[in-house]
Amino acid sequence: MALLESKAPADPLTLFRRWYRQAQAAGAPQPEAVALATAGSAGPSVRMVLFKGMEAGSFTFYSNYDSRKGRDLAEDGRAAIVFYWPATRHQVRVSGTVRRLAGKASLAYFRSRPRGAQLSALASRQSRVVGSRDVLEREVANLAGKYPADVPLPADWGGYALRPRWIEFWENREDRLHDRLRYTRTRDGWRMERLSP
Ligand SMILES: Cc1cc2nc3c(=O)[nH]c(=O)nc-3n(C[C@H](O)[C@H](O)[C@H](O)COP(=O)(O)O)c2cc1C
Repeated sequence: MALLESKAPADPLTLFRRWYRQAQAAGAPQPEAVALATAGSAGPSVRMVLFKGMEAGSFTFYSNYDSRKGRDLAEDGRAAIVFYWPATRHQVRVSGTVRRLAGKASLAYFRSRPRGAQLSALASRQSRVVGSRDVLEREVANLAGKYPADVPLPADWGGYALRPRWIEFWENREDRLHDRLRYTRTRDGWRMERLSP
């Protein structure tokens, strides 16, 4: 394979979708796992999250708004994600700004999750120190009793959408002379440039 300017689509999201499908088809384990980097006043920080699809040209994921990442993003909305699919030897880097998804979208996704995951999200004050695992398990049991039917959407939980400022595609090539194409958003579309490997 080769990543050629002449064959690359004008829209990077078209290329992203193509590579994502290729990773799925190649049997990549958890192709939706993505590292998310944030930077707030506490310094830079990176962790894995699950990419949950595109929404109006933005990359979505879900988390706790009061977690370390949530507090970082409230202070500085800039963020970056990186996918790597060893099955296809493709890397995709995305940098841009994040916004919260509407409560309606968060609720719809929350409702689609298994009850156990809903209770865990409600019980967990993500990223806070907790005395023991037992504390968490007791809280889950309490909430299960309190909400025998529907589990309410936690006030501090929901989706984010990362709108790309630039997206870079990296493809492994022989002798480490790898291909890199970067798309940068312009006023009316995207500018594509090749970067040295
Ligand atoms: C493969 C993988 C997927 C994960 N997906 C999510 C996710 O979608 N949302 C989330 O909040 N945490 C997810 N986590 C946990 C985060 O990596 C992290 O531990 C948690 O969000 C707290 O991060 P923070 O303290 O920086 O906010 C995932 C972890 C792994 C290893």
